[in-house]
Amino acid sequence: MKRACVIGWPVEHSRSPAIHRYWLELYGIDGAYEKEAVRPEEFASFLGSLSDRGYAGANVTLPHKTEALRLATKADESARAIGAANMLWLDGAGRLNASNTDAYGFMTNLNQEAPHWNKGRAPVMVLGAGGAARAILYGLIAQGASRILLANRTRDRAEVLAGTFGPAVSVVDWDARNQALAGCGLLVNATSLGMSGKGPLDIEVEALPEDAVVADIVYSPLETPLLATARARRRQAVDGLGMLLYQAVPGFERWFGVRPQVTKELKAHVAATLGGA
Ligand code: ATR
Repeated sequence: MKRACVIGWPVEHSRSPAIHRYWLELYGIDGAYEKEAVRPEEFASFLGSLSDRGYAGANVTLPHKTEALRLATKADESARAIGAANMLWLDGAGRLNASNTDAYGFMTNLNQEAPHWNKGRAPVMVLGAGGAARAILYGLIAQGASRILLANRTRDRAEVLAGTFGPAVSVVDWDARNQALAGCGLLVNATSLGMSGKGPLDIEVEALPEDAVVADIVYSPLETPLLATARARRRQAVDGLGMLLYQAVPGFERWFGVRPQVTKELKAHVAATLGGA
């Protein structure tokens, strides 16, 4: 039996088991996907014992993503560029390999839902400067975004992040975010605002051109206030659950040997676990 897990602290909220277990059943694979609550101080020894525990690999969530990259023997380009790993696997020689599939997840979903997102090469506005924003900047640049405006409440964090990506990214003051929306083809919320229990994101969606796309990384609730406003203002809305589903694809294929499909049925299944969303 092949086994994988998600490692986090806490890990209870993770939707990864719902996704991977759905696919294991759908494809009739003799496998298991577990949740592993691992404290930061125990993370290194846990990774050292992955094979003894019977795992082919793992997803890694907060707060372990940076440490996962550091501890891996080999890391692919996405993990190195993003500075964090969310997917690990043991190769034939028992070496720990690391990847980051967040950019893949975000971009695959965006290309699926809004393939025209970069047609006019209009600037893209990204809000936020945490790990998610970093993955999204990497993905957008890799797929041809040549002008990205980055705004974050704490401007210094945006400056540091922009500095790692070169001239494609320029920082906009958080207070100037609405003015900067004019002419943008895509707005991405990579902050935690709009998540259940947090405040809403304060942004004037109507300042965007009418054909602009609005994407949110927040998936709980599935329909965030930002996405609801975007739809009400007739801008195309792309939700964060799609990113979450697509980021799971490479890991599942790596551990279980089948490239799984992201379908409406999977989305409905995982959305039902979001409770009230
Ligand atoms: P992650 O790694 O998941 O992206 P994070 O590093 O905690 O998480 O980043 C959360 C993002 O949401 C940050 O950009 C944060 O802004 P700061 O860098 O200023 O903290 C943003 N954020 C959280 N609460 C916010 C709020 N009330 N107003 C504006 N931005 C907020």
